[in-house]
Amino acid sequence: MKKVITYGTFDLLHYGHIRLLERAKRLGDYLIVGVTSDDFDRSRGKINVHQSMTDRVKAVRETGLADEVIVEEYEGQKIDDIRKYGIDVFAIGLDWEGKFDYLGAYCKVVYLPRTEGVSSSEIRREKRKVRIGVVGETPVVKKIVNESRYVDGCEITGICSEDGEFMEKEFDLPLKTENFSELIEKVDAVYVASRPGMHYAHIKQALENGKHVLCESPITLSASECRELFDLADKKGCILMDAIKTAYSTAYSRMLLIVKSGSIGKVVSVNAVCTSLRKNENGDKLFYFKNWNSMSAWGPTGLLPVFQLLGVDYKNKKVFSLFDDRAEDYDIYSKIDLEYDGAVATVQVGNGVKAEGELVIAGTDGYIYVPAPWWKTDYFEVRFENGEKNRRYFYQLDGEGLRYEIVSFIKSIESKESIDVIDRRISEKICETVAVTNRKSSKTPR
Ligand code: CTP
Repeated sequence: MKKVITYGTFDLLHYGHIRLLERAKRLGDYLIVGVTSDDFDRSRGKINVHQSMTDRVKAVRETGLADEVIVEEYEGQKIDDIRKYGIDVFAIGLDWEGKFDYLGAYCKVVYLPRTEGVSSSEIRREKRKVRIGVVGETPVVKKIVNESRYVDGCEITGICSEDGEFMEKEFDLPLKTENFSELIEKVDAVYVASRPGMHYAHIKQALENGKHVLCESPITLSASECRELFDLADKKGCILMDAIKTAYSTAYSRMLLIVKSGSIGKVVSVNAVCTSLRKNENGDKLFYFKNWNSMSAWGPTGLLPVFQLLGVDYKNKKVFSLFDDRAEDYDIYSKIDLEYDGAVATVQVGNGVKAEGELVIAGTDGYIYVPAPWWKTDYFEVRFENGEKNRRYFYQLDGEGLRYEIVSFIKSIESKESIDVIDRRISEKICETVAVTNRKSSKTPR
């Protein structure tokens, strides 16, 4: 029996795919189709795939052309598969011409002409684009605009900022305005990175006008306001998503799963440090970051692994803050200690101070070590007393997680259902926890 194998993503299965499979099948008696796993696609930078692997496998099966469907999970797997299944012919579209000649050492390699005029990318692009407007003046606004270019199905069409000079100098967008109402009129969704004190008003206005919102955390400066906005989003049938880019990075989310599956035993301590030095050309730390003090700029990121691993119901909280002499509400460094039943957490944040930005999660059997800067990591280690058991994990990270964050937002809008990577209760608790020092209502030492 002559066995043929072919591979592909087969997203939104189309006529071109079917023709390819038909022709591949005719090259032998038995056709094996390798469908790429979601992870494998992500690791090779294919982030826009619409359907899950399960749906893509199902679609290929339903063509009735494949005698067997397998999953392609790693680089180099094709050689393994050819040997394992005793393959005679490897077939692939001509767009890969020359790329798989090396497989000629194991079987015959055939490049088949592509069907003109159709591709998954085109089908994805043809769907109506979500027009996004951005509001704010922090550097992350610029990053979001850049990263959105890698995401199919959206385009940034305008910006609103209090800082006219920043807007003029840094952005080349069709609409630039200092008037938020003008911005939301012309878009389907907004990315909010304004001063934390402005978030509530911006989000409320956007939602009331039926616009979806992706907001830099903290969503607001109180849990009740945050809850109110989530309720409003539900009422309006809009998406409201918390934007903490780390939550969307593969390494971070895999690390959480490893901890949750008990690899390091029971978690007894989470220790996170997040700091950065922030200055404009005049060396003035406060210029861009009015209101983005250490607690609001870094608190959400630092608290994320704590709340995702230990929950939001801590028993006690102590916050120690060092304030900048020039501004009442600008903490240059804060330390948050949280006490849980059977566990503790410490989060240290600094906007204007530099320290080693590590994350250490201690458990009764071992610990997790994520090196600095842990919030944009592609790597972590699981360590044990017996060093031979240590494990290292590496994952692809594109665009610091922002790219995946935008993909999740667009997918949520298209499916009309929030992909809650960050649980709403966590978003609310973050608002409550970082707000205390913001408003200087805490009795922390000066
Ligand atoms: N293919 C084809 N004709 C097309 C599109 C795809 O023959 N018009 C073939 C590819 O050459 C490949 C297989 O179908 O051998 C699976 O391709 P895949 O990358 O999944 O499909 P594309 O439509 O090319 O997807 P994308 O636009 O995301 O690259």
